[in-house]
Amino acid sequence: MSLYKSRLLMAGTVVSALGVSALGLSLSAMAQDGGVERDYQVQLPEPPDGEVTFTPPEESELSDSQYDEMVRLGRDLFVNTQALRGENVFNKQNCSNCHLDAGRLAHSAPMWAAYGVYPAYRGKNDKVNTLSDRIQGCFTYSMNGKAPEKGSEPLVAIQTYMHWMATKAPNNTSLPGRSYPSLEDAAQEPDRERGAEVYANECAVCHGDNGAGQFVGERTVFPPLWGDGAYNWGAGMHRINTAANFIKANMPLSKPYSLSDQDAWDVAAFVNSHERPQDPRRRTVDSTDEVEELFHQHNGVYGQKVDGKRLGDHTDFGEHPKPIDG
Ligand code: HEC
Ligand code: HEC
Repeated sequence: MSLYKSRLLMAGTVVSALGVSALGLSLSAMAQDGGVERDYQVQLPEPPDGEVTFTPPEESELSDSQYDEMVRLGRDLFVNTQALRGENVFNKQNCSNCHLDAGRLAHSAPMWAAYGVYPAYRGKNDKVNTLSDRIQGCFTYSMNGKAPEKGSEPLVAIQTYMHWMATKAPNNTSLPGRSYPSLEDAAQEPDRERGAEVYANECAVCHGDNGAGQFVGERTVFPPLWGDGAYNWGAGMHRINTAANFIKANMPLSKPYSLSDQDAWDVAAFVNSHERPQDPRRRTVDSTDEVEELFHQHNGVYGQKVDGKRLGDHTDFGEHPKPIDG
């Protein structure tokens, strides 16, 4: 069994509340408590693809050097990216919503595993991407944002946080625990109607019946999965295979690997067949058709008809102001 321990604000409270649910603590009690910082521990079943051999350093080892202060700032921005709301972020996500345990958790695309593999070629933009490019990409798509400029404090801080997390990690090799374990192809074609049932039973309690998430004031307790507050149509998570892999290894929160592979595929198909902020690349071309043809030749439903409506066929960029230049 592997174990992770965190001091995340919201998820920490969630998990500790769930942990004592036998004592009658309800989700609403937890929500009221959403601002309290506390420790929690989650017992994780063994992931399917073998052992994780790298452990990032502990925050308690940080000093007050200028470098370590930058690490702290990066950590803070990573778990509360909403601090950049309105400037670099135009949805309700934090980096740590998809990179769990503040980017430390193996099989949740951990930052210590990402650090040493950039620069790398990415088909997405058909060029060699530096680490800064890669982080900027998550701002543009996952955060429906305007990426901070290279050399700007937020980008330097996040990059320094990653550099620190990767202390003593082997360089330029894909470490075990990077990304998510890949599921085998679905036995049956992923089906959003079956997925709706999985969602109602396993996910709605936290993410809401309408996928809009739950908040305490401005604070995201459970991130939105579709609608204005969610990742946009250009984000990696909108792909059904990527979401299925993430969900299998990470959701429901505190019960990873509990869904069958088929349920993970089906619920990913359900979540990702809802409207969300437009792919920002729509601004560079004339039509949904072009976006689909140029950028969506992969496992997603952008441009397809669901319940009589074509997904992504709109110019609603959520809260993102126009025009986009990042
Ligand atoms: C909506 C979910 C989501 C959010 C929010 C998000 N990311 Fe990601 N991120 C992903 C996905 C999906 C991948 C691709 C994982 C894979 O398939 O390896 C990824 C990959 C990455 C990678 C490359 C990982 C690797 O191993 O190559 C970095 C670096 C990264 N994200 C940084 C960030 C940062 C910094 C933020 C906040 C500004 C952020 N992400 C927010 C979903 C998200
Ligand atoms: C106990 C509450 C809980 C349950 C149940 C739960 N989630 Fe989550 N989910 C979370 C939290 C909290 C996060 C953000 C993680 C963090 O910040 O540490 C999250 C993150 C996600 C993300 C990342 C995407 C984003 O936009 O931030 C996806 C996708 C997701 N959950 C899907 C699901 C699915 C599908 C189910 C049901 C199979 C599910 N979740 C069940 C609490 C839950």
